[in-house]
Amino acid sequence: MTTGDNPRREAAPLETDRAFEALRNIVWARFGLDLSHYKRPCVQRRLEVRLRARACGNLAEYLERLSEDGDEIRAFLSTLTINVTEFFRNPGCFERIRALCLPQLFVEGGFRPGSERQLSRRAGPIRIWSVGCASGEESYSIAILAREYLDDRPEARPRNVEVFGSDIDAEMIARARMGFYEDERLGRLAAERRERWFDRSGDGWRVKRRTRVIVRHEVADVLRLVPEHRQDMIMCRNMLIYLTREQQDRLLKRFSEVLKPGGFLVLGRTELLSQSARSHFDTVCPRERIYQVRT
Ligand SMILES: C[S@@+](CC[C@H](N)C(=O)[O-])C[C@H]1O[C@@H](n2cnc3c(N)ncnc32)[C@H](O)[C@@H]1O
Repeated sequence: MTTGDNPRREAAPLETDRAFEALRNIVWARFGLDLSHYKRPCVQRRLEVRLRARACGNLAEYLERLSEDGDEIRAFLSTLTINVTEFFRNPGCFERIRALCLPQLFVEGGFRPGSERQLSRRAGPIRIWSVGCASGEESYSIAILAREYLDDRPEARPRNVEVFGSDIDAEMIARARMGFYEDERLGRLAAERRERWFDRSGDGWRVKRRTRVIVRHEVADVLRLVPEHRQDMIMCRNMLIYLTREQQDRLLKRFSEVLKPGGFLVLGRTELLSQSARSHFDTVCPRERIYQVRT
């Protein structure tokens, strides 16, 4: 049904600032997420989806429901944050990471000043942060890629790898922690990779323990989270696009501070490095939008 099918329905429920504030207050009070950091048309579209799903005629009716019904708050947020993902999503991006980033991290020895090319296990683990990792496909994919790289290359220095996956959606993180995926979720994964990195489990596959133990998942709003450790790589794909330009700038600057000197930022093809963030990064791959913090 479209908005035109129901004459009672408001065509654009967030047209006024007051309506937006009312929605923002409820979401903030119940969930601690600040909607003003998200692009208004994006919130608007998601809201229309929920109004239709709940057959609400207008925003006031929907807001009443939203403030009383915890399930609806969660449904609204999952609609807003869109959890679409898959293993090795946009394979070209992973191919570029393997070719351009991993050799620097694992073979050449990284870029830490003062320890040039002298890294060993004692240098600490390679840390990779998957921001907005949804149900874990991205965090496990990058962990698998790193492990494959290390396993298949005797010349690679035996560094430990720690992957940190974070997402604002608690349900997604609960799934990520399980590391279990139904057959169809692994649909496009090469059979060879599936056999090597997953165990058959019921009607699906579970990420093997040796990979699960190097990946930690946490519920967190990236706009408020400061990770414990500095990172060698940050992947932030298909997430920035929902944020306002101001929040994107803020976040990209913070990424440049959280990354170690020479660390990599992987944005993927749908995101853009804003003009103001360009001064912090050099371009490694313009197509897959991979950048490196200036040393
Ligand atoms: C489209 S998915 C992208 C998943 C994965 N990065 C990929 O590219 O396949 C976007 C994810 O960003 C998460 N997200 C949105 N806003 C967020 C925030 N403020 N903090 C953390 N995660 C957020 C959503 O919950 C969702 O799981």
